[in-house]
Amino acid sequence: MTSRGKFIVFEGIDGSGKSTQLEFAQQYLRNHGLEVYTTTEPTARPIGTLIRGILKEELKVSEETLAALFVADRLDHIQNDDDGLLSMLDKGITVISDRYYWSSYAYHGLHMPIERVVKMNDICHQLLAPDLTIYLDVTAKHSMQRITARNEQQEKFEKLELLQGIRQNYLLSFQHHHQDLTTEIIDAAVSIETCTVAVQSILDRHVINQNI
Ligand code: TYD
Repeated sequence: MTSRGKFIVFEGIDGSGKSTQLEFAQQYLRNHGLEVYTTTEPTARPIGTLIRGILKEELKVSEETLAALFVADRLDHIQNDDDGLLSMLDKGITVISDRYYWSSYAYHGLHMPIERVVKMNDICHQLLAPDLTIYLDVTAKHSMQRITARNEQQEKFEKLELLQGIRQNYLLSFQHHHQDLTTEIIDAAVSIETCTVAVQSILDRHVINQNI
């Protein structure tokens, strides 16, 4: 029987270098012979597409509605028949997700108590908890410098004070929720190479050496 794949989540504020590290992690695990599927939240499916429109302010909804849409998108991400996370993991595939419910705690926790966001996401936690979460930690100031250097169109959350609040919510969430889960916080205000080495050492310990 195939053993279940590991579910790995990358988290970080905008501009933390998450996408780059996720890409390297995927390659590293493949080089070690694992079958890897990478995915992202919000998804590219219909609810995720609706959410992206809201983040670009093409459509306005209440903060609670947005938080609920993320829960719906996440449930669809976990359960859908095409490329749902549970079906991938059941096939023995290692799944890496760019964001998961920790993002909801951090971002929506700006507008409502984190505890309420945790409660809204309880069904997702029951269905699928990460085997490993890697949080790439940079300060809001550092993140803003990277975002500005990339010269990207700024989305709703990419403002200094908001980023400070989001980072604080992440750190509070890791401290107070799901402490039984494996969560690794990495200093990501370093060179890409240094950060990659840190990520690889975590992957060695928790995935490649099967020690989760
Ligand atoms: P995206 O452009 O995909 O950003 P990134 O490359 O930084 O992941 O946008 C995702 C945005 O959605 C990001 O600002 C965080 C936000 N978000 C939430 O507000 N709640 C959530 O539950 C998730 C998963 C993301």
